[in-house]
Amino acid sequence: MAASSRISVVTGAGGFIGGHLVAALRRAGRPVRAVDIKPIDDWYQVFPDVENLAGPLDGDCRDFSVCRRAVRDGAEVFQLAADMGGMGFIENNKALCMLSVLTNTHMLLAAQEASVPRFFFSSSACVYNAEKQVNPDITALSEPDAYPALPEDGYGWEKLFSERMCRHFREDYGIQARVARFHNVYGPHGTWQGGREKAPAAICRKVIAAKASGKHEIEIWGDGNQTRSFMYIDDCVLGIRRIMDSDIYEPINLGSSELVSINQLVDIAETIGGVKLKRHYKLDAPRGVAGRNSDNTLIRKYLGWEPSTSLREGLAKTYAWIEREFHKQVESGEAAALTVSTFSHGSKPIPGDGFMVESRHMDTWKQGIPVGYGDRAEPKPAVAGAARG
Ligand SMILES: NC(=O)c1ccc[n+]([C@@H]2O[C@H](COP(=O)([O-])OP(=O)(O)OC[C@H]3O[C@@H](n4cnc5c(N)ncnc54)[C@H](O)[C@@H]3O)[C@@H](O)[C@H]2O)c1
Repeated sequence: MAASSRISVVTGAGGFIGGHLVAALRRAGRPVRAVDIKPIDDWYQVFPDVENLAGPLDGDCRDFSVCRRAVRDGAEVFQLAADMGGMGFIENNKALCMLSVLTNTHMLLAAQEASVPRFFFSSSACVYNAEKQVNPDITALSEPDAYPALPEDGYGWEKLFSERMCRHFREDYGIQARVARFHNVYGPHGTWQGGREKAPAAICRKVIAAKASGKHEIEIWGDGNQTRSFMYIDDCVLGIRRIMDSDIYEPINLGSSELVSINQLVDIAETIGGVKLKRHYKLDAPRGVAGRNSDNTLIRKYLGWEPSTSLREGLAKTYAWIEREFHKQVESGEAAALTVSTFSHGSKPIPGDGFMVESRHMDTWKQGIPVGYGDRAEPKPAVAGAARG
């Protein structure tokens, strides 16, 4: 095989999981092409010896010509690019989340057109039927529980649709598509502030901020009894690569099965930080489903493996990284409000709380309506006429 045809293409490479995946592929000696709409200075991890397609012009996978360039000579495509975030983000940005369908469609089309043999799609536990997640002491979700379809509105519907598109591209065109449903991934080099971060990073940041300010209080979204499982990033990357190299055709769970409540997550973060905080529960904040866990029967059966890093171990590493980032910001004077640990609607944003109506579209300049949509041509009056006629 020619060296050029071994390229692993990773989209969303400037993000959390993409950055770690590029690092792992690179360590394994694979030539990598890394693609992301964000300017390269905003990527979590950058490797100069990797081919980087960055920024709105070279790295926007909603643009079909960018996708064509991205997949050239690719042996495998890892399609991770998506507009996403924690509950505060996805509940307030449904249209934006659904626009990721453009990215998924164009990347699949480009990969199929270029005869790329393998395609990985990062789906989510948000595809699961909401009615099966109404109790905190939930039975873990197994793969068939996605149907009948009642996924998370917006983000989950888009993921479910794109899953099925992968299936039909495989059946109709032969591309070897693999689909993993990630359950809450956390770890260093990920979003910990700004509104898109998920619970583990947000809780770590709030504990760190409370310690730094001496104001020993923490705000928790919901009543804290909602349950989740959290997968450490190293398990996620290993799972992605194993699923990609496998013959697993159907969407499969990739998540930890260690179920904890948000209150227990806070307990662990407090233990790591060596502090005890007074808890305030914000009952009207976005909280997602009542309970969600990953049933790992299928992945154990197929791979003889499942994510196994304990939350205590993974969170300690994550906490240490966020603490360093936090103090870097404080020292640089970038974040005057970092030590505040509570918020309300309309208050100054705490880095990362993100439940502010004002901050909903904070980076739409980068990730909003695709460049050129709507400003390419005037709407044609004939459309209205046609409808009438
Ligand atoms: N992190 C989790 O817990 C989790 C859970 C379920 C599913 N996922 C999925 O895993 C994938 C990676 O998630 P992550 O946590 O690394 O998120 P992330 O936000 O850190 O990374 C996603 C990256 O995609 C990029 N992107 C967005 N639109 C793009 C476009 N049009 N073209 C090119 N790049 C674009 C963003 O700039 C970002 O860097 C996503 O598809 C996400 O939906 C993540």
